[in-house]
Amino acid sequence: MTKTQIAFLIAFGLSLLFYLLPRKEYESVVISEPSITLPTGKVHIFYDASFRNKTFDGAFLNWYTNSSTEKYDAAFYPELGLYSSKDPKVIDLHMKQIQSTGVGVVVVSWWPDDFERSPPMSLILEHAQKYGLKVTVHIQNYPNRTLHNLMTNFVKILKMYDAHPAFYKLKVPSKKRPLPLIYIYEPLAFNPNKWNLLLSSTSNFTIRETRFDALFIGLIVEDTDQYVVTNSNFDGFYTWLSLCRSTYASTWYNWPYIQDFARDRGLIFIPSVSPGYDYRLSSDNINPRLIPPRIARNSGMYYNNAWSRAVVSRSKFVAINSFNGWLEGTQIEPAETSEKAYTLLKTNFEDYTPENSDVYLQMTREWVIEFSNRSLYRP
Ligand SMILES: *[C@@H]1O[C@H](CO)[C@@H](O)[C@H](O)[C@H]1NC(C)=O
Ligand SMILES: *[C@@H]1O[C@H](CO)[C@@H](O)[C@H](O)[C@H]1NC(C)=O
Ligand SMILES: *[C@@H]1O[C@H](CO)[C@@H](O)[C@H](O)[C@H]1NC(C)=O
Ligand SMILES: *[C@@H]1O[C@H](CO)[C@@H](O)[C@H](O)[C@H]1NC(C)=O
Ligand SMILES: *[C@@H]1O[C@H](CO)[C@@H](O)[C@H](O)[C@H]1NC(C)=O
Repeated sequence: MTKTQIAFLIAFGLSLLFYLLPRKEYESVVISEPSITLPTGKVHIFYDASFRNKTFDGAFLNWYTNSSTEKYDAAFYPELGLYSSKDPKVIDLHMKQIQSTGVGVVVVSWWPDDFERSPPMSLILEHAQKYGLKVTVHIQNYPNRTLHNLMTNFVKILKMYDAHPAFYKLKVPSKKRPLPLIYIYEPLAFNPNKWNLLLSSTSNFTIRETRFDALFIGLIVEDTDQYVVTNSNFDGFYTWLSLCRSTYASTWYNWPYIQDFARDRGLIFIPSVSPGYDYRLSSDNINPRLIPPRIARNSGMYYNNAWSRAVVSRSKFVAINSFNGWLEGTQIEPAETSEKAYTLLKTNFEDYTPENSDVYLQMTREWVIEFSNRSLYRP
């Protein structure tokens, strides 16, 4: 045999071997659509880290609608039991589950340090980083929130976490550098003029172009809110509950108009999708327009509808409400079967059967892929 023939045989043998050897199964998504990378920063999820329990924290917090009776009174019961949000094992599992859905940004309900509900941010950031996720905050309307203490708290958050690699930053064309994106619940509790002092670039007290500049995203509910939030110099707005027809902003059919409104002004619009809703807490201290009636899940049909409307809205981002809003019945976290929950608490709960407990995580993954893919083909 000549040298060329030998070389040919070796090359042939090697390529044959390459085809015959078993190869690692990569997910088909990654092969057919190399431009979709998961987890994606386009999809955010609201995360409640205010649950505390007796064995871990000494007392229950946030699980009971009435703490004197210690009765768990939500529609579903968590597969993990009444866990502590401060337990590193729980946080780790949650971040792993969120990563499995392809969602890229964890939006933590944020209360100041002097509240028991204050989230364990450092732990969340640490475990999120392990799974390639990013973390930001959803500033709650805590008692005695003033614009002054809100900004003090915001500066504190940035000083503590800004340098953390898992702290979420977004680069938008109008800004020189990637900035944190901060959700603000009920921003209209303050007069727009006050917001302008902080957020208008021409004000003497502006934080624009300073070290503490950020993308401020405010909640909108009624149809005039988008104007007020825009005039307050916010960088965008979000809807909290995706309860179709309960308010202007939560009505799916309005999302394309809200998206156009945002796009024309260079703002960010983030509609929220929920799998259902069943509020069990007392309505004291809650703005009644934020508490619509119960909405059944219909075995996931409601969630699918909400997602499909988010996809056609052409918004660049979407937020899931929620990962673990158990008391509002909005969670996608795995729920215990009603049978098992009944043996534990002698109470009837809903569950996800006949599907598995992770069915909402799986549905989420399918929609995250669909949403990311569609946005690739959009102008
Ligand atoms: C993405 O969308 C394109 C065009 O609609 C389609 O051909 C492709 O199969 C989609 N990919 C995934 C992963 O859904
Ligand atoms: C909590 O339960 C106790 C005992 O049943 C009752 O007296 C109290 O009124 C309840 N509190 C609320 C806020 O429902
Ligand atoms: C408290 O939470 C931990 C995990 O965070 C769990 O192991 C424990 O069973 C919980 N205790 C109760 C009483 O639910
Ligand atoms: C909030 O303000 C009220 C009235 O000004 C005061 O009584 C209360 O102690 C304050 N609460 C907190 C948590 O600062
Ligand atoms: C901002 O500063 C200018 C010049 O010092 C002053 O004339 C103006 O009144 C200030 N505006 C506010 C809103 O404080």
